[in-house]
Amino acid sequence: MSRRDRIIDEVIDKFPNVGNRTLARLLVEQYPELYTIERARHSIRYRFGATGSRDRKKVNVCEHKKHCSLQLPPGINQVKKPLKLNQPGDWLVISDLHIPYHDEIAIETCIRYAVDKKIKNLYINGDCVDFYKFSDFVVDPRQSSPSNELELLRVFLKSLKKQFKGKIVYKIGNHEDRYERYLYQRASAVVGIEQFELDKVLGLGDLGITCVSSKQHSIVGNLCVFHGHELPKGMASPANPAKSLFTKTGCSGVVGHHHYLSHWCMTEGVRKVTHNTYSIGCLCKLVKDYSPVNNWNHGFGHARVNSKRRTEFRNYLIDRGQVECQF
Ligand SMILES: [Fe+2]
Ligand SMILES: [Fe+2]
Repeated sequence: MSRRDRIIDEVIDKFPNVGNRTLARLLVEQYPELYTIERARHSIRYRFGATGSRDRKKVNVCEHKKHCSLQLPPGINQVKKPLKLNQPGDWLVISDLHIPYHDEIAIETCIRYAVDKKIKNLYINGDCVDFYKFSDFVVDPRQSSPSNELELLRVFLKSLKKQFKGKIVYKIGNHEDRYERYLYQRASAVVGIEQFELDKVLGLGDLGITCVSSKQHSIVGNLCVFHGHELPKGMASPANPAKSLFTKTGCSGVVGHHHYLSHWCMTEGVRKVTHNTYSIGCLCKLVKDYSPVNNWNHGFGHARVNSKRRTEFRNYLIDRGQVECQF
């Protein structure tokens, strides 16, 4: 019996009272790599002998149990599928630039590293722009305006396009999220107009930059990439963000948002599978008006995906223009 048939039998046993359409949706949700909705529906009908008499002779037909008598519309699915980046190659992973509060020396240092190492792909892992005036906190009216920040961001993204000839991915962090929250609260009438959508405002499509939305993560090779605001609560300021990342996700991964480097390595007790998690440093000024004393540091990541879709990750500290590999 094939793996697909075995999975279908398991799902039928587990949910004996649901109809074929619901079973198909369950299969697609649980095994997106194996089933499309059409394929799942056809396979289920095949197992129940509903694809013709010739197929019925070939298969030991399953008996349909009595169906649920409740009339329920399908539940609303809020799952955002992760962006999978499986192609072998090198990625520079940067985070938390907070334009216009960015640190030019730190940014130049990590871009120089990428150029020296001939890294073609760039992953901007959230909080690239600060959107100061969209904050829910009391704001200083003399500080930078959103239009000014967007102008600086576009110039920066254009210059990145010249340096990175491969793929550029822009992740929406909690600071970019401020824009949508502002619209929802204060200008809800324009929500839904294409020109006001966040990726359009950031100008990503015009530059051929892929946008990863808020609360959607990516998988680079076998490494999950998050911005910290999308992980379960209780992650605000952990002593070791990398350890918290593993506790919350149970997989190898990288997180931005915390503004300081950390590493955690854990080998599962029974399966003896080892997981590594990392938090990367920021590329903004290390002192901000709301955080004059902190333990932030500058840094970036270098992810190398090999032909077996496995990822080797190095976490770098930038200290006074010098790059030091930490983990
Ligand atoms: Fe940040
Ligand atoms: Fe953040």
